[in-house]
Amino acid sequence: MPKLTVVQPQAAPDGAAIEALLEEDAGKDLLRFLTCGSVDDGKSTLIGRLLYDSQVVYDDQLAAIGSGKQKKSGAEPDLALLVDGLQAEREQGITIDVAYRYFASAKRKFIVADTPGHEQYTRNMATGASTCDFAVVLVDARKGIVTQTRRHCCILNLLGIRKIALAVNKMDLVDFSKQRFEEISTDFADFTQALGFEDVVVTPVSAVQGDNVLNPSGHMDWYHGPTLMAHLETVDATSDRAARPFRMPVQWVNRPDSDFRGFAGTITGGTLRKGDRVIALPGGKSTIVERIVTFDGDHEEAHVGDAVTLTFADEVDISRGDVLCDPDNEAEISDQLAAHVIWMDRQPMLPGRKYILKSGSQQASASISTLKYKLNVDNLEHQAGKNLDLNEVGYCNLSLDRPLVFDAYRNDREMGGFILVDRLTNMTVGAGMIEFGLRRATNIQWQKLDIDKAIRAEQKGQKPCVLWFTGLSGSGKSTVANLLEKQLHATGRHTYVLDGDNVRHGLNKDLGFTDADRVENIRRVAETAKLFVDAGLIVMVSFISPFRSERRMARELFAEDEFLEVFVDTPLDVCEARDPKGLYKKARAGEIKNFTGIDSAYEVPVRADIILEGGKQVPDDLVADLISSLQKKGFI
Ligand code: ADX
Repeated sequence: MPKLTVVQPQAAPDGAAIEALLEEDAGKDLLRFLTCGSVDDGKSTLIGRLLYDSQVVYDDQLAAIGSGKQKKSGAEPDLALLVDGLQAEREQGITIDVAYRYFASAKRKFIVADTPGHEQYTRNMATGASTCDFAVVLVDARKGIVTQTRRHCCILNLLGIRKIALAVNKMDLVDFSKQRFEEISTDFADFTQALGFEDVVVTPVSAVQGDNVLNPSGHMDWYHGPTLMAHLETVDATSDRAARPFRMPVQWVNRPDSDFRGFAGTITGGTLRKGDRVIALPGGKSTIVERIVTFDGDHEEAHVGDAVTLTFADEVDISRGDVLCDPDNEAEISDQLAAHVIWMDRQPMLPGRKYILKSGSQQASASISTLKYKLNVDNLEHQAGKNLDLNEVGYCNLSLDRPLVFDAYRNDREMGGFILVDRLTNMTVGAGMIEFGLRRATNIQWQKLDIDKAIRAEQKGQKPCVLWFTGLSGSGKSTVANLLEKQLHATGRHTYVLDGDNVRHGLNKDLGFTDADRVENIRRVAETAKLFVDAGLIVMVSFISPFRSERRMARELFAEDEFLEVFVDTPLDVCEARDPKGLYKKARAGEIKNFTGIDSAYEVPVRADIILEGGKQVPDDLVADLISSLQKKGFI
């Protein structure tokens, strides 16, 4: 056996340490696989066994696990200790979501991504699986296929893993029973058939005793299949990225001086040769590759995974985020996508809310326009839903503010995968797998009209704008908007007030007061306000609009000199004492649910343009202050 070493978990499988070791075994091919199952199923022991029996463990680690007090089964060392040391590390709050370990056998080298089975499991599995081509799912022979097994398989399938092995562990605790093994195999086959994996192999093992992990078991002569390691060594799970059409997302444009203009990135699919024609999407310009430059000089050709800088025959306008493609087999382009989304945040996904979508070096602002259904990952049922909670999976339509260059996830995990990032916290909140682009939306074009906003505004002799009033119910928003409109009207201005209660009688009649409905409420009224501004009007929007994210979305629909956020800052106790519609009383009595300020959040503005202290001044004074602010800011 060659000299082998275990690498301690790294934050990413591509860490320099791992690469250095991979170098040693450069001749062998590499299998990246994922393990899933819970600690109780013996996952740590199984991984420990693979490492231990491959003789890849440092001597001092062996001394630690074999030395007395923690020993479990007879003379066997407690293999879980090899792995569980890391668990402790994680529990101390060190954010290793996925632990990667490297080992090798005579035939192959391996990177195993071990994902902890706690409640953030979808997030961890998504992180781990994105680099894996194969998965080992573990069950306890005594328990058989449990909900978590189904869940894991469903997520593996969504993440594009096509081949899996089921390790039926703890066979020693069911007397190495052939019957029990067959029951579990049948159960598993029934379930996985619906998922359509290409290849499923089931192996009976005892990780503690070593049966069928590396060495064939002496206790199960009825089993004639491969050991787990034999399967890992031979399974053909190489992703055929090389056979796919050429793709290279441009990461940056390298322009050290006026003579050199190179486009740098990593090839994610296919092969590229000097002289090949490529097309840059979404722009659609095509050109010929003149040079393929790498850190060790010019190359004639480059392959999947190579980081290269390309120069072209013509001066083409290509920038970061563009994707270079094979012109005979282009990627798709759409600003409307159908995709599975795995939600990873405690704050639920709300349709209509804007998130940042990142796919490779492309970035767009995106919202889920329709949650078509939630996928129950335990039984594959489709369920209706209004939002996605932590760990839930939804099938959604997404709407982007610009076209995305992509391939379907099933064909290309890199070009078809994306993450969603919260715009306020910058946290990754979701992971997505694109099914297809919605062509119907790509076919809609903007109709240019001859009479535009400027002409309408000129005719009215005013500067159209939105004054966006936000504040609690009863804060005085509508009272102030009403008084302001009267004064503007009296001076010949053309105005309109969009009031929450009124709009909810018609356009937004179908919406209630859940977070998801409020997001949609604000989206619709913001779009309506945009149309009214386009019509040349001064628009006053008087909606509670409790969430920062949607107020920001509204602001971003307008030019900077068209939008003012007016926070009517009246304290809750004052609003409650006024209680003009008797709603606070009902909310306190529990007769109304999700009432703002009582059992539904109001996020105080952090960047309001104007603050009116509704608890301290009477409405006439507030309006007088407001008018002078509007004059100072040049709005009227
Ligand atoms: S928003 O939160 O979605 O912006 P919006 O301004 O449209 O709310 O509607 C708020 C009005 O609806 C309140 O002024 C109040 O009259 C009424 N209302 C009824 N139920 C609720 C509730 N649960 N929370 C807040 N307002 C409510």
